[in-house]
Amino acid sequence: MPLVGDVLRRDANAKHSIFFMKSLNKDLLNGVQRQIVLELESSLAYLSLASWASLKGYLGSAEFFQKQSGEEQDHMKKIMNYLIDLGEMPLFSSPSLKLPKFSTLKDLFDYSIKQERLVSASIHSLVEEALEDKDFRTFNFFQWFVEEQREEERSIQKILDWFSLIDLHAPSDIFAIDERIGRLSSAS
Ligand SMILES: [Fe+2]
Ligand SMILES: [Fe+2]
Repeated sequence: MPLVGDVLRRDANAKHSIFFMKSLNKDLLNGVQRQIVLELESSLAYLSLASWASLKGYLGSAEFFQKQSGEEQDHMKKIMNYLIDLGEMPLFSSPSLKLPKFSTLKDLFDYSIKQERLVSASIHSLVEEALEDKDFRTFNFFQWFVEEQREEERSIQKILDWFSLIDLHAPSDIFAIDERIGRLSSAS
């Protein structure tokens, strides 16, 4: 049983083949490869945030970030499988993750919103490039990610809004929010 990639590569050399699938253009392919690493970095970042929250006793937030980390891995695999379907080898170059020093629970969410906005910008530029190339297949594939980013930014912004309503120096308020965050991740 030949592998999908082998079939596609072989058929790519054939003149007329119903299996022929044109791959992405080189720049777009590089962009998609970078997106895989960005999703991996996000997954690792969220694991770090979950660990920090656990060690400080913020168990609701720890649960939230562990779940986020799993979702980022799912995103990475989704893109990986897209490339495999096109007969391209996904590359997992080493993530270069630099995390700031966190002092409060709110710092984790300030970091998260920045990371999600960075990912959104990256997705948007892939969508723009796919459209410019008239690569409607890739354009369509990343529509799911556009919506996913909108939802992720919204859920983190909602948590930041909760922080803006409390006394950040009152531990009981912080723990109440943490509990609420935990309920949020178990509800969805
Ligand atoms: Fe993601
Ligand atoms: Fe995300």
